[in-house]
Order: sequence, then structure tokens, then C-alpha cells
Amino acid sequence: MLFKVFVFSIFALYLLLLVVLLGRRFWRTRSKSPPESLPSRAADSSGRVFLDILDLSKAFDYPVLKGINLRIERGETLGVLGMSGTGKSVLLKLVAGLLKPDRGYIVYRNRDITKMNESDLLGYRKKVTYVFQSGAVFDFLNVRENIAYPLREEGRLDEQEVQQRVDYLLDAVELEGQGDLLTSELSLGSKKQVAIARAIAGNPDAILYDEPTTGVDPLIGKSLSRLIRKLNKQEKLTSIVVTHDMRCLRIVSDRIILLKDGNIHFEGPAEAFYSSQDPFVRAFIAGKRIDDSALQPAPPPGQPAPL
Ligand SMILES: Nc1ncnc2c1ncn2[C@@H]1O[C@H](COP(=O)(O)OP(=O)(O)OP(=O)(O)O)[C@@H](O)[C@H]1O
Ligand SMILES: [Mg+2]
Repeated sequence: MLFKVFVFSIFALYLLLLVVLLGRRFWRTRSKSPPESLPSRAADSSGRVFLDILDLSKAFDYPVLKGINLRIERGETLGVLGMSGTGKSVLLKLVAGLLKPDRGYIVYRNRDITKMNESDLLGYRKKVTYVFQSGAVFDFLNVRENIAYPLREEGRLDEQEVQQRVDYLLDAVELEGQGDLLTSELSLGSKKQVAIARAIAGNPDAILYDEPTTGVDPLIGKSLSRLIRKLNKQEKLTSIVVTHDMRCLRIVSDRIILLKDGNIHFEGPAEAFYSSQDPFVRAFIAGKRIDDSALQPAPPPGQPAPL
């Protein structure tokens, strides 16, 4: 009798395990986003396009972005400029998958991230990481623990590998010897260095920076910009840097876009931006108050800009 009960319990346990395993597989299949149909323009035969943004629109109280079309190439750093409230951060949050657009596509590896479910977005955000303006580090942890945090969360490395990676990252962001300091003891500039180390800890493909030099003095801003440039090359990252800081822009950008009235007013290589004769671009570079009605048309080639 006892033997029969034993055999029955084993059988029941086996059945339970089977149901759990099959259930998990079924749930995983269901929770995957269905394949979406992408516009034909999103097809990239060159393999150089990292992100393809098509007709991206977002309104809050008013239309903030009105049909943005933009291709970001693998390995480039794109500087994003625009007056306050033109939607620079909104654009970055849409690309990070932190906001949903009203219309449009953001195509990454043949998938539209705007249609992804939360679980797929979590995977995407490991590949395309976001560095918040404030740095957003844990003040109750020291520098080393802060940098180790995403690595431990991911659980791919054993503790010795985590420590080795943290050493590499401390060195990469020029914080060697400061691993044991509490982040609450750090200056804002160093907190931003910790945030950058955390962002690159899991070997992402891209980093999105929102105002990386805001709140620090010009000297620290310059060294943070140089650090961003160095890491982008060293780690072969694609980057989008939203900034008001023209010095940072000059150091980091390969290409620049200038947003105006919900559209891209200028898009081109950094050199073309600085030598542009477009009145709005000239006024923006000169840091002048920009009043559309006061802007004069671009002068004929060979003549100086009217500023
Ligand atoms: N979650 C939100 N809810 C409502 N309105 C929002 C939200 N996020 C942004 N906005 C509005 O969208 C507009 C664009 O905001 P955004 O933060 O992108 O501007 P920005 O170009 O980054 O400006 P800044 O240079 O001052 O950072 C603003 O009018 C802002 O108030
Ligand atoms: Mg902003």
C-alpha cells in the first residue's frame, strides 16, 4: 500500500512538473510581440543603419514632434540640438522606448520598437541604454557596487568576472582608485562618470545621453565630453547626445540635427553645421535670441552671414 502511494506521488509530481514546463513555454510564446509589417523604406541593404526613425510624431498639449524621419548609422554620434521645449528629450525617450509615439516607427534590427511589449523592451534597453541628466546613481551604494549592480542583476557573470569587469569600467571612465567611495560623497561630474560606467557595463550597442554636461562647470563638462568621445570609439558605440552645450557638441558629434517647430530644421555632418549659412543655424550657434520674423535669408555664396 505504502509503495502504491509512493509511486502515485512520484507520478503526480511528474505530471505537475510537465504542466508547469509546458505552461511556461506557452506563456513565453504568447508574450512575444507578433511580427509587425514595416514600411518598405525601413529595409536596409547596406547594414550600416543602426536605427531608422520614420514619420515619428508625438503630441502632448501641442504637437511636439511632427513626423520625424531620421537614420542613425552604426558607430556614429549624433548631436541633437534645439531650443528648450522643442522635444529633444521626448525624442530620446521615444528612442529609449520609455514613451510611445502617436504615430511612426523606430526600426531596430528589423523590429519596430514602438510596438514591442515590456518584456522585449527590457531586452532592447540592455542594448540601447539611457543616461539620465541627473546621473541617477544609488547614493547608498559605493561606486564599485553601483557599477556592479546591472551586472549582478543580469546574472550572466560570476562574482570574480563581475569584479574584473568593474575594474575595467572604473579604468575606462577614469575613476580608478575611487571604487570604495560612497556616491553621495561624489561631485555631480563624478556621479555622471559612474552613470556612464553603469550604462556601458553590459556591453550595449548604443548610449543615449540627455544633457550629459548640464550642471557641471565648463572644465568638467569638457572632460566629460572627451570621455564620451573616447568611450564611443573604444567601445564601438552608437550614440545620441542631446545637449545645449556647444562645446560638448563640438567634441562629441559626427553629425548634428537641429529641431525646430516639431521638425528637423538642419541635418548634416558637424562641419556642415558650423559652416552653415542658414540664418536659424547661425543664430543658434551665436546663442542669439531667435525670433523667426527677424531672421534674414541666407546671403549669396561668398558673402558673410548677416550676424
Ligand atoms: N510626459 C509629459 N507629459 C506632458 N508633456 C510633456 C511630457 N514630456 C514632455 N512634455 C512636453 O513636451 C515638450 C517638449 O519637452 P522636452 O522635454 O522634450 O523638451 P526639450 O527640448 O528636451 O527641452 P529642454 O531643452 O528644456 O530640456 C514640452 O512642452 C514638455 O512640457
Ligand atoms: Mg530636455
